[in-house]
Amino acid sequence: MSLRVAILISGSGSNMVALADSMQGAHPARPCLVLSNNPDASGLDKARAMGIPTAAFDHRPFGKDRAAFEAELLKPLQQARPDLIALAGFMRVLSGDFVERFEGRMLNIHPSLLPKYKGLNTHARAIAAGDTEAGCTVHEVTAALDDGPILGQARVPVLPGDTAETLAARVLPMEHRLYPAVLRRVASGDRSLLTLSGP
Ligand code: GAR
Repeated sequence: MSLRVAILISGSGSNMVALADSMQGAHPARPCLVLSNNPDASGLDKARAMGIPTAAFDHRPFGKDRAAFEAELLKPLQQARPDLIALAGFMRVLSGDFVERFEGRMLNIHPSLLPKYKGLNTHARAIAAGDTEAGCTVHEVTAALDDGPILGQARVPVLPGDTAETLAARVLPMEHRLYPAVLRRVASGDRSLLTLSGP
């Protein structure tokens, strides 16, 4: 039996596509749901085109009531019975209660070399700090933001004249290599650190 993977997105879903594309043939997992907090996320159309069930709940009507929003999110998630959950550009912070339900089973990709630059604007912050390398990290999700055991990292150089946009464009293809590779290892029971480096 394949493991079931739910993927949570907020936007274009390019990491979701990379993950879903990878889960074929002898891969030990299959996508079971793509879930979004943004009903207009273009990634939802991509998931539908790939034949993956989707669900979306706009977080905005819930205002500050995160518990009510998460209760809605939980319904399709529990119906989908995922073994693993992959946050892939999911831009809402999840509560400790929500995360703890899926302890050890929820992964995230973050566009920095954690523990550096948790939170937003990671590439701009790396450039402003004068870093000579940047990258992305796949980690287990814990209640603390962008924390949790690191499962994989991919490094790229920061080049003279880089902007947040040019650096993001160098990191994103590495995200698309790293996340599927880590997911496959985790689905196979291997949580040892994977490191990649790119151009
Ligand atoms: C990716 O760069 C991902 O690392 C980042 O959002 C982008 C989503 O792109 N995630 C975060 O910043 C999470 N804090 P995608 O929708 O095309 O996969």
